[in-house]
Amino acid sequence: MNIKDKLIHLLEGTGYTQKKVATKTGLSTAVISQYLKGVYNGNISNVESAIADFISREEERARRREVKESFVQTQLAGLALGLISNTHMDSDIGVIYGPAGMGKTMALKCYVEMNKGAILIEANPGYTAKVLLQELCARLGVKKTGNIHELSEECIQALTGTGWVVLVDEAELLPYRALEVLRRIHDRSGVAIVLAGMPRLLINLKGSRGEFAQLYSRVGMALDLEAHKGKSEVEDFNTILASLLPDDGENVVAAPGVAEAFLKYSTGNYRRMFKLARGVVRASAIGNQGISVKLIETYAQLLIH
Ligand SMILES: Nc1ncnc2c1ncn2[C@@H]1O[C@H](COP(=O)(O)OP(=O)(O)OP(=O)(O)O)[C@@H](O)[C@H]1O
Ligand SMILES: [Mg+2]
Repeated sequence: MNIKDKLIHLLEGTGYTQKKVATKTGLSTAVISQYLKGVYNGNISNVESAIADFISREEERARRREVKESFVQTQLAGLALGLISNTHMDSDIGVIYGPAGMGKTMALKCYVEMNKGAILIEANPGYTAKVLLQELCARLGVKKTGNIHELSEECIQALTGTGWVVLVDEAELLPYRALEVLRRIHDRSGVAIVLAGMPRLLINLKGSRGEFAQLYSRVGMALDLEAHKGKSEVEDFNTILASLLPDDGENVVAAPGVAEAFLKYSTGNYRRMFKLARGVVRASAIGNQGISVKLIETYAQLLIH
């Protein structure tokens, strides 16, 4: 992007007027206006260097205000952590399922950080039973060569008597054989297992015709995040939102309509809200314009639905 486009972008994305830019750059409003129209016939490079300095100062301020995500204890996260902790204590199999962006991974990571006896594995589309076992062996620090049977035995030996829990994220990607391998390890070693993933995880566990009864009957607790979301949604959104917005002394969340606008444009998705808050906070820092409903609306239009 050239300097002129950057300036146009900044004027559009923030509350800055040409007059304000003039003050900040030490140029006159007329010069800024002529420069933008492409009719300025003075020394362009002086003008551009003043504008470039101004833009980089603004960008630097935005960087300092960068929104970082960190776990906050929402009610939904509390339910997920409760399921993990119960499953862990009971050496059971537990399932957490719900749509994208609802905080499954955040909850699993939080549990792992707080508990030594927890192993987190993130499945991916390449996870066959063997790949899963190799990963588990690597995490347990045991030999990871051999066939599925040998690898299973290694894991069972290493896990027996530990009282640990194995958490598998994106478990909807595991093929049935990999789920079966986990069941066997659970049966033989007594390790607790928590599977987290998209709603189709539940179908994978039951089988589309209920043919996987042996696996599904092992599941103690199952948490349907979607079903619980409604009860705590507004409160949970506000809890996360408060942790994302800058605390400059003024209470941004309480500004009229701001919390409602964030909620509305997040369309029930915490990830979307994070992205929205990150963009809005950055834009608000650039113009130092504060967070308004209008800014939220502008930014929401840029996010995909
Ligand atoms: N308890 C929480 N504390 C703070 N932020 C949260 C929390 N829950 C969700 N979020 C926000 O929502 C985003 C999505 O959460 P997360 O990645 O855990 O979702 P997910 O359910 O694992 O989604 P997917 O199925 O797409 O993997 C996080 O990156 C974070 O910004
Ligand atoms: Mg996730």
